[in-house]
Amino acid sequence: MDSRRTPSIAEWYHEETKYSPQLMGLLPRFDPDQRPLPYKQWHAERPVDLVPYLPFPGFPLGPRPDQQPIDPETLSEFVGALSRILYFTSGVTGIQQDEDETWLFRAAPSAGALYPTDITLALRGIRGLDDGLYAYSVPHHQLVSVIEGDFLPEISRTFWDHPSFDGIHVVVLLSGVWQRSRWRYHDRAYRRILLDTGHVLGNLVHAAQQEGLQAIPLAGFEDAALQKLLFLDSEQEGVLVGVPLGRSDDVGASDGLTAAVKRSARSTAPPDLELDPIIALHETSAMSHDAQVSLPPDPPMWAEGREGTTVVPLVETLSDISPDFPGIVVRRRSTRQFTGAAVDRRDLDRVLDFAHRYASPGPVRYLSARPALDIHLVVNRVRGLEQGVWRYIPDEHQLLLVRAQDERRRVHGACLGQELARDAACLLVYSADLPTAVEVWGDRAYRYLHLDAGFLGQQLNLACVHQGLGVSGIAGFFDDAWNDILELPADHAITYITAIGDAAAGR
Ligand SMILES: Cc1cc2nc3c(=O)[nH]c(=O)nc-3n(C[C@H](O)[C@H](O)[C@H](O)COP(=O)(O)O)c2cc1C
Repeated sequence: MDSRRTPSIAEWYHEETKYSPQLMGLLPRFDPDQRPLPYKQWHAERPVDLVPYLPFPGFPLGPRPDQQPIDPETLSEFVGALSRILYFTSGVTGIQQDEDETWLFRAAPSAGALYPTDITLALRGIRGLDDGLYAYSVPHHQLVSVIEGDFLPEISRTFWDHPSFDGIHVVVLLSGVWQRSRWRYHDRAYRRILLDTGHVLGNLVHAAQQEGLQAIPLAGFEDAALQKLLFLDSEQEGVLVGVPLGRSDDVGASDGLTAAVKRSARSTAPPDLELDPIIALHETSAMSHDAQVSLPPDPPMWAEGREGTTVVPLVETLSDISPDFPGIVVRRRSTRQFTGAAVDRRDLDRVLDFAHRYASPGPVRYLSARPALDIHLVVNRVRGLEQGVWRYIPDEHQLLLVRAQDERRRVHGACLGQELARDAACLLVYSADLPTAVEVWGDRAYRYLHLDAGFLGQQLNLACVHQGLGVSGIAGFFDDAWNDILELPADHAITYITAIGDAAAGR
């Protein structure tokens, strides 16, 4: 990249929110008494109670005594599908009672268990339900009517009438509530909100498939128009992804990877320093009606020279976890401690194969910025694989050796001294050439890259649980230290790390 170019606000934000050993002590502490509620509280007398449709009895959270849910006899069977989709995407799968507080853990992991992602549904033509916008009320597993009316045509317009809106009854809108995560992570929270939302999206794709529906994630839309339709105040929260749910049978054979993705403008002026950095980046990465289609680089950014390196073709694959998906979600928890023992390479092969199928050619585009995705693997202890730093090439299911070395001490330090990183069998790391990505997708690249990384992170989680491996996301790390470990130029952004290994009993 030309060193004289003016950095975009996306690059500025990334630089500003890097953790470094020098700055760590200077970050403001968080006040435990100010922790925001991890969901909105909806007061509805006549909600749609979704509990009766869950595939297990005795769900402990249901309607409040003062609520009179709509008579289920009057409702379409499809409401059952919506119940399960919402539950296995973002429902309550764990309850922990402390002395004076109840903690609800959810279907998708979330940095710090802060759950910044909210779900709104736009519904049309479902028997017994008025067309309209509905909020998913997490603690009661209910749908709450927000406003009546057929909003699908207007929502579709904010996605430039993407063909996946044709004839559908449901669009799922995922939005991020800034303060829930900012409370703890300050300016760096936007990264985690996007990663968390990517995880939720990662579940949604499978939860919809269980009901014969295809989720089509669309992270490009006219922000202001969509925010207005949902009555969202951008100072507080912002829509991050829209997901029309169509019938699985209707998905064509086209290659989703080559389908168009829109770009935002690329900022050239420095940000207004009076503005909150999260708002500054969210606003500068917004799209207007005349947003252009991005022109992805050809060949993709990752297809650089790799002559002369040790290449290890991976053998094992894992194409389907669907029979086990509901069980995986219900038993999934992030690993708190690894034993440090080695895992078997064949399990790792399967995990890598499963997760990155979503990054490879296929009828649906799951990632917005696939050509910018670089995948790295740091092996601490994997039976059948040399210790060191590797690159993973998803389309070929291959590993390329970058450097053979024991990196446990370094990765431990670079993950803020988290023992998880040292004791994991391996760490899967996503990165991107941020300046180039910004030239391709404008400042929107920042959203795309982190949503993509969270989405893939959730596929890694699901595949690990399926294979009986421990797994945890890691979003707290010293950015520059990781560039050094991975031998990446200083302007490449490390977006996300997933630690995989042998979980200590009960952790
Ligand atoms: C984006 C993201 C970042 C995370 N970062 C860390 C981390 O740096 N360290 C850690 O111990 N756990 C991390 N986690 C795991 C969360 O702490 C965990 O998901 C949360 O406590 C909820 O628990 P559960 O996943 O078991 O449901 C992360 C999770 C996500 C989704």
